[in-house]
Amino acid sequence: MSKGEKRPFTGLVEGDRRKEWRRRLVNPPVERASTILFDSVAELTGSRPGLGEYRYGLQGTATHWALAEALTELEPGAAGTALYSSGLAAITGALTAVLSAGDELLVTDSVYGPTRKFCETILKRCGATTRYYDPMIGAGIAELIGENTRAILLESPGSQTMEIQDVPGVCAVARERAVVTLLDNTWATPLLFPAIAAGVDITILAATKYVGGHADVMIGAATATAEHYPRLQTTAWDLGHALSPDDAWLGSRGLRTMGVRLKQHEASALKVARWLKEQPQVGLVLHPALPDCPGHELWKRDFRGSSGLFSFELRGADDAARAEFVESLRLFGIGYSWGGYESLALPVDPVRTVSRPPANNLVRLHIGLEDPDDLIEDLADAFAELG
Ligand SMILES: Cc1ncc(COP(=O)(O)O)c(C=O)c1O
Repeated sequence: MSKGEKRPFTGLVEGDRRKEWRRRLVNPPVERASTILFDSVAELTGSRPGLGEYRYGLQGTATHWALAEALTELEPGAAGTALYSSGLAAITGALTAVLSAGDELLVTDSVYGPTRKFCETILKRCGATTRYYDPMIGAGIAELIGENTRAILLESPGSQTMEIQDVPGVCAVARERAVVTLLDNTWATPLLFPAIAAGVDITILAATKYVGGHADVMIGAATATAEHYPRLQTTAWDLGHALSPDDAWLGSRGLRTMGVRLKQHEASALKVARWLKEQPQVGLVLHPALPDCPGHELWKRDFRGSSGLFSFELRGADDAARAEFVESLRLFGIGYSWGGYESLALPVDPVRTVSRPPANNLVRLHIGLEDPDDLIEDLADAFAELG
């Protein structure tokens, strides 16, 4: 680390607090605007969109620039960040920036369901085709790259089946073949896996999860290298993507504590996962930091830690019993999303087209900031009810 470079935790605190944006306040304030007023027609027509350049609400205010700049600074090697109104919008916006009719996209078979749906519907209608690959393919991806392959979309770990991919290996092959790489890095965040430094061209966060951290906001972010950022950002504006300033502000607020929250999510999730591993009703525990998880060795090689989301295989229970198990938990909510301070549980049934999930009959847990011993007690009671 060179002198003057901020360590990640300092970056979280200092990242988006330029004096000219926050003035005398600790936090940059919420600046709400559609219209920006100029002193002359020449000033208006001469204005250019960009960080720190007031132009029109779509191109953001200091509230947005602060969040975008902080996220960029967390990714060594990145040139800029485009913000969106959800994580899914960031994924579809980034894909739209990269792909044209006639292109082929390679997508991990472990991908987040709504991303797969976008590829199969809107992307298909626009003339780009999608081919899925086994998340454990690694450098073998070279064999799938054809004349029309334009981009690869990775997600590591997959948010249901948790396979860790060889992201540096796939990116190295892609770069040699002039194929653009995009990564859904929501589980790790740049704190646990700085993606651009690992060779990714565009890294995407559903900031709804750990950046927001409180289950009360939806935000997407895509951070890119100098080669890809201008087109990424321009496409987002051309599509009319706008994040509300209130939500951008909540993102910045969440970011301050993301480091300490992640440490607690990590410690508690590991405690629960290790306990689950000992239970007779549990088969595989798919947590990247545990050996059952496909890609565990890659996690050890590439990641700086783990977060709070993982899955486990519930043995000998049919769908109805699995639902009853989840419903009998008192401290775990039943609902979509994750990354908030509260624990969640959900039965998940991964959709696959070219590979098999590592296990079936999965329950996905998000371990929140409750005392992990209380969560373990709750799970133990639910297992006892299961019989
Ligand atoms: C891995 C992953 N990526 C992207 C998203 C989409 O984020 P959002 O809910 O903000 O659209 C989710 C949401 O659950 C997710 O789990």
